[in-house]
Amino acid sequence: MMDIYNYYQADTVEQNQLRYKNKLVDFKYSTYDKSNKIKILPDEIVKILLKAGKIGTKIMSDIYLVGGMTRDLLLERENRDLDFVVSNNLPCLIEELSTEFDGEGSYNEKFHTGSILTRSGFNLDFATFRQEYYPYPASLPLVKFTENLKDDLFRRDFTVNTMVLNLHPDRFGQLEDYFGGIEDLNKRRLQVIHSFSFYDDPTRIIRGLRLMVEYGLSPDERTKRLLIEVLRNFNFIEITPVRVINELRILLERNKGSDLTGYLRDYPIFRLLQIDFEIKEEIISSLQQLEEYLAYYREKKYNIREWLLRLAVFLKDVSPVQIDEWDIKKSEKDILKFPGKIKSRLNIIKNTEERFALYKVFQEYTREECILLLTFSNEESTRDKIKIYLEELSRISIDIDGFILQDLGLKAGPEMREVLDRILAAKISGKINNTEEELKLARDLIKERNGRDK
Ligand code: CTP
Repeated sequence: MMDIYNYYQADTVEQNQLRYKNKLVDFKYSTYDKSNKIKILPDEIVKILLKAGKIGTKIMSDIYLVGGMTRDLLLERENRDLDFVVSNNLPCLIEELSTEFDGEGSYNEKFHTGSILTRSGFNLDFATFRQEYYPYPASLPLVKFTENLKDDLFRRDFTVNTMVLNLHPDRFGQLEDYFGGIEDLNKRRLQVIHSFSFYDDPTRIIRGLRLMVEYGLSPDERTKRLLIEVLRNFNFIEITPVRVINELRILLERNKGSDLTGYLRDYPIFRLLQIDFEIKEEIISSLQQLEEYLAYYREKKYNIREWLLRLAVFLKDVSPVQIDEWDIKKSEKDILKFPGKIKSRLNIIKNTEERFALYKVFQEYTREECILLLTFSNEESTRDKIKIYLEELSRISIDIDGFILQDLGLKAGPEMREVLDRILAAKISGKINNTEEELKLARDLIKERNGRDK
């Protein structure tokens, strides 16, 4: 096993703490006045920041904006998730701030963390200054509270995510940079704080890739070496698939699959799910095909879980048995397993012509599954049928229901379903088109039935 992995032989928190010092990024503290950047934020965010700073002084607590929001502020990129680090008295801060902004606040006593969802839809997350230790690679961290902001920042993933914005009224808008984050951001450089970062929390590999793709960052030599080393040598058995999939979800919600393919040779991130993945031409063209359909149905406001379809294409050759072991929602597993069934499903569609028969076939599939069928189909006539279902047939319904049939003299029972189905079939086949015609057909069918029963 590689050299760095052996450092996890520490038994105590103190030993554990020591090992990080061996492998630390250069420490270079500096401050910058960034109050001019705050002015371009939405008014509501500025109000939240000002108020948080004021409450902080009142309750004798230091409070800073940290993480993605601070990074994005410098880049003038929009972000609605605010992360705060707070030296102490967090429950008081949450209470006062949620009252002020009419938000829903919560506080976790065990972890000294909390959150507020403001009425205007901003998500505020809070954490009390803490250090984190990972007893073994990919474990959940042990937490130790600290009075020192730098210790808290040290536990984080990349230098560009460690800059904080001071919210104290006397220093409002002062950016504090402990690990050279601002220089790295300007040079578009991705750098871990210490060499254990990816072993501590392998999901950071995916977070790092996200920063490369979305922000155009490139890893410095050491970070690149560490990324490649951990992806090559680590088995990722300890990390739960649901943690990995949560990060993949964020990555694939914000980026097209085809934007990632160039990175996957160097950074085979699906190894975190214990999948040896090779990027083949066939996948690249399926991803491109998928994006065309996603764009088309996005325009039509179909509300598709795009990330899941992108993931399904990447993982199309993974066995259903493996997917079933993941602790994710059943509806998500079903979609991830669907590519394995596509060939047979496409055959059925190919051999079905009548509209109602097609409707029945497709009724089994979600919209997302239909889009996968479109993506993997090679035949135009089959694709046309899928589109007809998605855009026409799936929208057809009848106005008549069981109560109306009862009013018309049909007894409740299994025949009711049968009559409703026949009315639906007639509507889907285009034989009837409106409520009047539905009612007429219902009467005819009931008459026919009652005549038969006599
Ligand atoms: N963090 C970390 N390791 C993780 C997750 C988070 O060190 N696995 C730290 C980073 O410093 C990050 C902060 O916690 O900036 C907040 O986490 P999150 O809100 O998930 O990330 P952001 O960087 O704020 O989000 P985004 O990139 O989506 O804007």
